Amino acid sequence: MCGIMGYSGLRPPLPLLVSGLERLEYRGYDSSGVAFFDDFGALSVVRAVGKVGMLKDLVSDRVAQPGAAIGHIRWATHGGVTLENAHPHQSGPIVLVHNGIVENDQALRIHLRSCGIECLSETDSEVLSHLIRLEYEKDGVFPEAVRRALGHVEGSYALAILCQNDPADLVVVRNGPPLILGLGAGETFAASDIPAFLHFTRQVHPMDNGTIALIRHDEVRAGRLEQSLQDWTPPPSMTISWDPVFAEKGTYRHFMEKEIFEAPRAMMDTLSDRLSVSPVLPELDRLALGIPPVVAFVACGTSWHAGLFGRAFLEQAGIPAFVEIASEFRYRKLLLPKGSWVIGISQSGETADTIGAIEASRRAGFFTVGIANVPGSTLERECDLCLLTHAGPEIGVASTKAFQAQVSLLMMLSLALGEASPRPDLLDALLRAPHRLELFLESLSAESLDARVERLRQSRLVMFAGRGLDYPLALEGALKFKEITYRPADGYPGGELKHGPIALIEPGVTVVAPLVDRSLRAKEISNLREIRARGGYVLAIGPAIGKEGHEIWYDDRIGLPDDPPWSGVFQAAGVLQLLAYRVASALGNDVDQPRNLAKSVTVE
Ligand code: M6R
Repeated sequence: MCGIMGYSGLRPPLPLLVSGLERLEYRGYDSSGVAFFDDFGALSVVRAVGKVGMLKDLVSDRVAQPGAAIGHIRWATHGGVTLENAHPHQSGPIVLVHNGIVENDQALRIHLRSCGIECLSETDSEVLSHLIRLEYEKDGVFPEAVRRALGHVEGSYALAILCQNDPADLVVVRNGPPLILGLGAGETFAASDIPAFLHFTRQVHPMDNGTIALIRHDEVRAGRLEQSLQDWTPPPSMTISWDPVFAEKGTYRHFMEKEIFEAPRAMMDTLSDRLSVSPVLPELDRLALGIPPVVAFVACGTSWHAGLFGRAFLEQAGIPAFVEIASEFRYRKLLLPKGSWVIGISQSGETADTIGAIEASRRAGFFTVGIANVPGSTLERECDLCLLTHAGPEIGVASTKAFQAQVSLLMMLSLALGEASPRPDLLDALLRAPHRLELFLESLSAESLDARVERLRQSRLVMFAGRGLDYPLALEGALKFKEITYRPADGYPGGELKHGPIALIEPGVTVVAPLVDRSLRAKEISNLREIRARGGYVLAIGPAIGKEGHEIWYDDRIGLPDDPPWSGVFQAAGVLQLLAYRVASALGNDVDQPRNLAKSVTVE
């Protein structure tokens, strides 16, 4: 969590840092700050509690000279949301921003106290600035001081550091949380995520764990933390294909709304080149792997819901599969058959629990596969094989288009791993799904949802229920709803309702029921009848079934085209995302940056 950014180059750095921090704001928004060399060449620090907008106002009349500068947005872990705890932290000539956790900060504080240094803040990050300063005072070699100081530190860190005496130099370090260099002409950026500098360069170098770099304009030298400065070399780079337009809101009010409507394109970009008359996963073919005896999906949040779909698709293809919450799986005994695959699914590719689960699986000797959206992410680099979704940058904290991209890639994976000639009906449904979703979203007018949004807003409790493929949809609908509306909501397997949750049903409770899984529809409908019989209000999301009005089992229905389930799941997901979005907007909530959440959860 938290976002950091650094720059070294010839442009005035403040506007560029502020706009970069705005693009990283999804990572945290408790406080923000920048450090830069002012027009007298003095190292200045400006910090603000609250969103980047507060910081922007504070620096609007400040002038920074070209050279190096750093910035930070905070998601509080150690210490409350106060100005003292905001980054950057300064100790004499050293100023730094930090993303991560220093695990031995108490021991380091005691050591600092013995050197006569008292910390001013409650953060673990401040100790780093003092440690580096103490080392710097020994020989005045800035990057070497950083390297030596970090030898005393336990924990995880992505750091961007400035030194008063070297105004063009930026030192960055990665040991855990992500840090990506953007290599431009005459300038270099460093940031927790690519959208921070996507407008300036698409040439990137994702830093490896345990590495450090010294940056002076476009000269970059990098090495491992164990290597001394003279052994550092220019790092390799890669070009990413993301379009900077993805990182702009355009005419939409929120990124989340824009990203909901970008789902068809996210699916198309993920499937194209991989799908024509037959499913092709060149990444798999190259390795000439056999069929795994068992596949375990590990993920968190929305990506875990995508994993539930993955399990269903693989089972349909005859491959045993299960899905686990990454934070639980990583500490379990891994009793999988030899040759099993563990597939980590993650939009960001940086979720600490998912990466931890993959690391544990690798240590246990299993073949690891990543499904990640961010190129160069830790998941991509940690896994034996990575399949990238191509949803483009997802800025809204609530995941939307990345989910549809993950689910479409999982469908394709099941086709590629399944029987020699995949079922033509499934292949056809997948081929058509992006366009069908596009047409469907275009047909959904804002007005057609108004009454439903109002009903959900007025409901005392909203529950989501479904069976088969509709169950992960119900879970995802509930997660979207609770995380941005802040209203209690839960998703249930329809058949479980009568084992407890049905006690919650009474007038004023709404049950949202996606109905795209034809195989279990009759059973789902009988569960919904049980809800209505107890005064619950049923909002169905599905195609017309039987004679409308003949036997009413819902109170209201948002119509879906009668497409095959492999197409319908995307449409139902779009409706669930839009309903949550519209209710949260109507409540006046900060949809893109909901309270207490961060986009990438890089701490356990
Ligand atoms: O980047 P990841 O896909 O690994 O993130 C996993 C979850 O943190 C994420 O899906 C989270 O649940 C979102 N807020 C859901 O909208």
